[in-house]
Amino acid sequence: MSKPGSATTISSLLLFLLLLLLHATANTETPSTYIVHVSQPAARVSSSLLRSLPGPTPRVLYHYTLAARGFSAALTPPRSPSSAAARTSSPSAATASATPTPPTPPPSSSRTPPASGPTPTSPPTSSSASSTPASTPSPRQLRRLRPPPPPPSWRGSCHPSFPCNRKIVGAKFFAAGYEAAHGPVDESKESRSPLDTEGHGTHTASTAAGSEAPGAGFYSYARGTARGMAARARIAAYKICWASGCYDSDILAAMDAAVADGVDVISLSVGASGRPPPFHRDSIAIGAFGAAVRHGVVVSCSAGNSGPGAGTAVNVAPWILTVGASTVDREFPADVALGDGSVLPGVLLYAGEPLPTGSVPLVSGSDCGSRLCIPGNLDSAKVAGKIVLCDRGSNARVEKGSAVKLAGARDDHGEHRGERGGAPGRLAPHPGYHGRGEGGEQDQELHPVRPLAVRESDLPGDRHRPRPAAPKVASFSSRGPNYRAPEIIKPDVIAPGVNILAAWTGESAPTDLEIDPRRVEFNIISGTSMSCPHVSGLAALLRKARPGWSPAAIKSALMTTAYNSDNSGRTIVDLATGVESTPFVRGSGHVDPNRALDPGLVYDLQPDDYIAFLCSLGYGPQQIGVIARDGVSVNCSSDTAKRLSSPGALNYPSFGVTFSSDADAVTYGRV
Ligand SMILES: *[C@@H]1O[C@H](CO)[C@@H](O)[C@H](O)[C@H]1NC(C)=O
Repeated sequence: MSKPGSATTISSLLLFLLLLLLHATANTETPSTYIVHVSQPAARVSSSLLRSLPGPTPRVLYHYTLAARGFSAALTPPRSPSSAAARTSSPSAATASATPTPPTPPPSSSRTPPASGPTPTSPPTSSSASSTPASTPSPRQLRRLRPPPPPPSWRGSCHPSFPCNRKIVGAKFFAAGYEAAHGPVDESKESRSPLDTEGHGTHTASTAAGSEAPGAGFYSYARGTARGMAARARIAAYKICWASGCYDSDILAAMDAAVADGVDVISLSVGASGRPPPFHRDSIAIGAFGAAVRHGVVVSCSAGNSGPGAGTAVNVAPWILTVGASTVDREFPADVALGDGSVLPGVLLYAGEPLPTGSVPLVSGSDCGSRLCIPGNLDSAKVAGKIVLCDRGSNARVEKGSAVKLAGARDDHGEHRGERGGAPGRLAPHPGYHGRGEGGEQDQELHPVRPLAVRESDLPGDRHRPRPAAPKVASFSSRGPNYRAPEIIKPDVIAPGVNILAAWTGESAPTDLEIDPRRVEFNIISGTSMSCPHVSGLAALLRKARPGWSPAAIKSALMTTAYNSDNSGRTIVDLATGVESTPFVRGSGHVDPNRALDPGLVYDLQPDDYIAFLCSLGYGPQQIGVIARDGVSVNCSSDTAKRLSSPGALNYPSFGVTFSSDADAVTYGRV
C-alpha cells in the first residue's frame, strides 16, 4: 500500500480520477460534482490532488472522514480524452474512485406515492394505531413530555438560525452539492437553513421521535394524541433535499456529520430513483457502511415507492435496514353512488362543505378539454357544478384536483376561491375522490367541482363500515427480489406507511401547492418515507434498551420477531394483487415493537463478513475499498480472508435462493 501523501499515491489517485472523468459525457465547460473516494485520510490528499490538476484549483465541497473517506469537488471534465491521458502518470493499485454525482438523485421516496390511496392516519404506534380523545395538555404533562438533556457524548449542534431545545438537539443543512449544480438556493422559495419549508422532514422526524401531542389531527381526521415511536428520543435534523432534488455529495456529508455528532440511528427516507446502483456507486450504501459497520449507527432507509413491480426496492445493501410500507386498520372511505345504482368505494380526506343532496352530473375530463385534467386546459363552462372524471397519470393528483377547482371556481363567481371551513387532504386541495383506498391502484379519479358528500368511518360512532383488515402491503411499496443481490431478501420489514398522521411545517401547505393557503400542524400522507421512521424510532428504543447490540443485531431482532399474519389471522395481503403477499413483498414481515426486545436469537455480523459478502458478489479490491475503505488490503483470495460460498451464506436473518433446476439443492449455515 502506498504511504499517505506519497508521490505514487497522488499520481494513482489522479489516474483514477481522470479515467472516470473521461467517461463523463457532460458538457465540457460545465463543472460537475465528483465524489472521490480515497484510501488515505482525505484532507491530506485532496488539496495536493486538486492542485495537481491544470487550471484553477477546484473548490472542495466536502471532506468525508467517517461515513466515507474522500471528498467531493466541482470539476470540469477534460476537453478531450488525449489531453486527459496526457495528464495521467503511472498506474498503480491505490484504491480510489471518482464518481460523478447523479444529476438529480430525486427526493427519493416520495411522500405522495403515485399509486397510493389517500390518507388515513396512523399514529406512529406501529401495529396498535389508536388515538385517544383529544385534550389540552397540562403544564405537568408538558414537563413530563420534555426529554432530558442530551448525554455528554452528544457532539452535535444547531445552526445559529435554528435554536436547539431539549427535543431538537441538532440542526444542520447541506447545500454545497446542490448549489454546485443549481446555483444558490432560491431563498424566495425555500430557506437556506435547517428550517423545513416543505414538510417531509418534519413529518418523518416526528414519526420517529415526536413527543406526545394531545389534540393532534388533520381537520376532523385522526383526532387524538399522536406520539412518535421513540417519544423521549432526541432529534438531530440534517437537511439534504432542496427544491430540485437531493444530491449525493450532500447526503454523504450529512451522514458523515451525523456519525461525527454521535447519533444512534440515521433515518433516511431517501433513495435512488430507478434500479439501485451497484453498492460501490451508491452513496447511501457507502455512507451507511461507514455509519453502521464502522461506527455502530443503525441506518434505516425507505425501500422506495416504485411498486408493485419486481426488483424495484432501493437501499438494498445488507448493512441497511430497508423498510416497505403497510396499511393500518384505519381508512377514510368515501363512496360514490352512480345513477345506475352502482357504488364505487373510495377514500377521501375532505372536511369542508358537503355536496348538495341529490345527483350531481358527471363529465369526463376528455370531453372538457383535458383528459388528464391539466390546469388551465379544462373548459370552465363544461365543468362548473359537475363531478369531473380525470384519467390517472402524467400530472400529480393534487394538480388534477386544483385544475378542476380552478376551472370550476372561474365559472362560479369566485365562490370556491380559497378553502372554506375545513379542508381536504393533501391529495385533494378541493374535494377529490380516489378510487380504492389503502394504497391500492385505481385508474381514474373523480374530481367534483363541488364537494362530495363524505362519510368518515374514522369518526367515533361511525359503524357503517368495519375496520379493514390490517396490515396489508401498499401497492406502491417497492419490492424485491433484491436487484443487486437476490440472496439478500429486501425489503427487510414493513411498517405503517399509508395515511400517516404526523407533524407538518408551518411553512407550506399540506398539499405543498402554492394555491393552497392552508397551514396545518399535522398532515396525513403516505409513502415508504413514512414507514422508515417508524422503524428508525423502534431501533432507537432498542438501542436504549439493549445498548450492547450492534446495528446488525438490532436489525436481526426486528426481522426475526416480525409477524406475517394480519389481524384476521390471514397472511398479510398484498394490495397490488389482493392475495397473500410473499417475502419479496413484505420481507420478514411487519415489525413488532414488543417482541423485538427479546428475540431469543440474533444473527450478528462483523465488518469482515460484509467484505466476504462483497467478494462473493465478485466485487474487486478497488470497489470494495470504496465501500469498506480497506484500500488494497482487501484481497478476496488471500489465505486469511473470510470466505463465503455464496452471497446467501452471509449470516443474515433471511435468505433467498435461485434454483436452476428441480434437482438443485442449496445449503446455508447460520450462526
Ligand atoms: C491475494 O492472495 C492470493 C493468495 O494468497 C495471492 O496469490 C495474490 O497474489 C494476492 N493478490 C494481491 C493483489 O495481493
